[in-house]
Amino acid sequence: MTSEEAAAMIQHGQTLAFSGFTPAGTPKVVSRAVATRAEAEHAAGRPFKINVITGASTGPSLDGALAKAKAIGWRTPYQSNEDLRKSINSGETRFFDMHLSRLPQDVRYGFLGPIHFAVIEACDVTRYGEIVLTSAVGASPTFARLADKIIIELNQYHPKFLRGTHDIYEPNNPPKRGDIPVFSPCDRIGQPTILVDPARIVGVVETNAPDEVRSFAEASGVTEQIGQNVASFLANETRRGVIPKEFLPIQSGVGDTANAVLKAMGENREIPNFQVYTEVIQDAVIALMHTGKVTFASGCSLTVSEPTLQSIYSNWDYFRTRLVLRPQEITNNPEVVRRLGIISVNTAIEVDLSGNVNSTHVLGRNMMNGIGGSADFARNAFLSIFTCPSTAKGGKISTIVPMVSHLDSSEHSVCVVITEQGVADLRGKSPAERAETIIANCAHPDYRQLLRDYVALAGASHSPQTLCAAFGMHTQFARTGDMRAVKWGDFTK
Ligand code: COA
Repeated sequence: MTSEEAAAMIQHGQTLAFSGFTPAGTPKVVSRAVATRAEAEHAAGRPFKINVITGASTGPSLDGALAKAKAIGWRTPYQSNEDLRKSINSGETRFFDMHLSRLPQDVRYGFLGPIHFAVIEACDVTRYGEIVLTSAVGASPTFARLADKIIIELNQYHPKFLRGTHDIYEPNNPPKRGDIPVFSPCDRIGQPTILVDPARIVGVVETNAPDEVRSFAEASGVTEQIGQNVASFLANETRRGVIPKEFLPIQSGVGDTANAVLKAMGENREIPNFQVYTEVIQDAVIALMHTGKVTFASGCSLTVSEPTLQSIYSNWDYFRTRLVLRPQEITNNPEVVRRLGIISVNTAIEVDLSGNVNSTHVLGRNMMNGIGGSADFARNAFLSIFTCPSTAKGGKISTIVPMVSHLDSSEHSVCVVITEQGVADLRGKSPAERAETIIANCAHPDYRQLLRDYVALAGASHSPQTLCAAFGMHTQFARTGDMRAVKWGDFTK
C-alpha cells in the first residue's frame, strides 16, 4: 500500500511504536504521511495526535515531521530533534524520559498501555511472517509481538543479506525471568528474524531511503583533548594491572566527544585490541574495525554516516562475522553489563563537586535529549567514566558546578570525570576529597577559585555543600548570562 493508505488507518489518540534506534532503522515514509494527515485534520478543525514510542531518538522524518505538525500527544523514551525539543520544552508534547534498557519491559508489563500499531522498517519480510530488520534492533521484537497491527516499511536501501546480523531475544517477564546467557560480546542467544503471525501485518509500504544519520563534526581541540585524556587514563589503568591485559569491552556514548574518545583509543599503542559492547555503534567504531583495533562490535544500532554504512555493506564478508545487532534491553542490560565488566564512557551536561551527573537538563528546566542508556551502563559498569568540556557557551557556563540542577547518574555510579583539563579519579575518595580533585583536575581555570570559595563557604561537613548558594552559579547565569560573575556573598545575606 502507499504511505497515505497506511496513515489513513491510524486514529487520533492511538499509540504507535516505531522500529529503529536513533535515525538508524527508523521508518521514514509512514511517519511523514501521518504528519501530513494530522495537518489536514487540524485544518478541518478536528483533533489529531498520536502517542509515540520508539527505541531511542529518530530522524527528521519521524520526530521532526510529527512535532512540526503538532501531532504528538506523549512521547517516550528519548529524542534529539530540535523541533520536538521545542515542543517538549514549551509544554506542547508530554515527554517522559526513560532508561532505554527498561523501555521494552515496561511495554511488556503494560505500563504504557496498548500499542495500536507497530511500524517496522525491514529489509525483507516473508509470507510466513519473518521480518528481517535493517540497521537497528531497538525495541522492535517487543513492539512487533505486542502491537494490535503491524505496518512494514520495506526499505530496499538496506540489502537483504543483513539476515543473520540481528540476534532477536526477549527475556520472560518475572517471575519466569531466567538468566540472559551473554557471556562474551560475540555470543548469539536468539533468532535472526522477528516472527509474527502474518495476519497481523496489515500493510507493506515500499521505500528506498537512507538512514537520516548526520555526519560528525571534525573533532575540535577540546574534544580531541578529552579523547586523549580518556585514552591515557585507560592505558595507565592497564599498565598498573587494574584493567586486565586482554582489556575489557567498551561502551561509548553518543556524539562528537564519544567519537573523539574512540579515535584516541585507537591511536594509543598501549591500549590493546579490544571489543565493543555498546548501545550505538558510531563511525569511529567502524573505522577501528577497518584497522583491526576493534575486533568485534555488539550494539543496538549502526548509527553511522552514509559513506561509512556503504563501506560496511561493500565489505560485508569482513563485517558479517564481526558485528551483531541486539535489542536494547540486551545491549544495555544491567545483568550483562555487570557480568562482562564493561568500561563505559558517557557525556555529561554538568557534573557537581560530589560527582553527581546531569546528562539531560539545561539549568534544571529544559530537556536536551534524555538519559538514553547512559545510566544503564554507568550504574553497572566495571569502570564508569563521564566526560564533558569544562565550559559551555564560550566559557560563560562552567560544566563543573557546586550542585547539579538535575540528577541522572548519582555519585555512587560515577568513578571518573574527565574534561579537556584533566582526569578526576573519584574512586575511594570522600566528598571533600572528590570536590578538591574535581576542581583541581576538571574545572576550567576561570572557575577554580570560585568553586574553592564555594567549598570554603560550605565549611566543615561531610559533603561540602550549602543549600543557600548551591545553585548560585546557575542563578547568576540566568540573571546575567555569565556564571563567572557569581558573588557568593549575595547568597548568604
Ligand atoms: N549548560 C547549558 N548548556 C550546555 C551545557 C551546560 N552545562 N553543557 C552543554 N551545553 C550545550 C552546548 O552548548 C550545546 O549547545 P548548542 O547545541 O546550542 O551548541 C549542547 O548543550 C550540546 O553540547 P555538546 O558539547 O555539543 O555535547 P554533545 O553533542 O557531546 O552532547 C549530551 C552531550 C550530554 C547532550 C549528549 O551526550 C546526551 O544527550 N547524553 C545523554 C544520553 C547518553 O548519554 N546517551 C549515550 C548512552 S549509550
